[in-house]
Amino acid sequence: MLEEALAAIQNARDLEELKALKARYLGKKGLLTQEMKGLSALPLEERRKRGQELNAIKAALEAALEAREKALEEAALKEALERERVDVSLPGVRLFSGGLHPITLMERELVEIFRALGYQAVEGPEVESEFFNFDALNIPEHHPARDMWDTFWLTGEGFRLEGPLGEEVEGRLLLRTHTSPMQVRYMVAHTPPFRIVVPGRVFRFEQTDATHEAVFHQLEGLVVGEGITMAHLKGAIYELAQALFGPDSKVRFQPIYFPFVEPGAQFAVWWPEGGKWLELGGAGMVHPKVFQAVDAYRKKLGLPPAYRGVTGFAFGLGVERLAMLRYGIPDIRYFFGGRLKFLEQFKGVL
Ligand code: PHE
Repeated sequence: MLEEALAAIQNARDLEELKALKARYLGKKGLLTQEMKGLSALPLEERRKRGQELNAIKAALEAALEAREKALEEAALKEALERERVDVSLPGVRLFSGGLHPITLMERELVEIFRALGYQAVEGPEVESEFFNFDALNIPEHHPARDMWDTFWLTGEGFRLEGPLGEEVEGRLLLRTHTSPMQVRYMVAHTPPFRIVVPGRVFRFEQTDATHEAVFHQLEGLVVGEGITMAHLKGAIYELAQALFGPDSKVRFQPIYFPFVEPGAQFAVWWPEGGKWLELGGAGMVHPKVFQAVDAYRKKLGLPPAYRGVTGFAFGLGVERLAMLRYGIPDIRYFFGGRLKFLEQFKGVL
């Protein structure tokens, strides 16, 4: 039995098999254990002799098992080390890093400037209703002012547009032509005083060229409270100019008409490096009719009026124009032309 057992142990191919062998010989019902149990039936002299023999066999088996176990474990470790070896001289796997779109970069820069001045950034829907995009902003149907915004009108049933408090909005749908409808939405849902900026994508049904796109981005600003004046507006735009172009920049305001502000202005900032004025956008003091439209809508929702006795200013500027300057981009159509060669230049620009 010993010979055979030792051979089996020596030939065991893995720990599993070794375990089975151990049970077969030394286990509770193992062969050797059985033999030992049989000892008590033998006469004393024979029992002693046989007992010594069996003990010697047991010791031999245990030693063999242990040695084989150690050998198998070592072999397994060696095999794992071999199999899992990392060849540090192999070429690496290339990871592709993404990058932010230049418009996103510019938008973030602008939002950050206003955040530092205490403004909160909020966003509104791109699909908008005629009411928020036009009527509430004092641009009624058939009013010639509507021609300032060539509009993509939407058709199609089943789209549920939510109002400022989640209520369903009725009426004709369009792609917002500016971020100004968010002025109305925000005012309906909040009470002054507040300062907000609204970055977002806007749409105009227009021919495109190097400086015009049908899809572009704006940053809207709105500040409402007691005693807000045109001076605050000028201060805000001045701070913007300083943050964008440094201490040598300056601002310029010229009168212009927008239905939702009075007085209305277009503003430009002096770009010292380029040595020219940049027309950035429109601005003005919030028109009383806009406050009235907001309070009327609040009333419809069961909210008390909140815009009596306050004033506010608003501005809206084009993001692409600034990004073109910041990054030296000659044609606005590059932004969303979908060419990787263009976009890849902005990898890692943060
Ligand atoms: N919404 C206007 C536009 O897109 C810009 C503007 C915003 C003007 C706020 C005045 C006040 O042309």
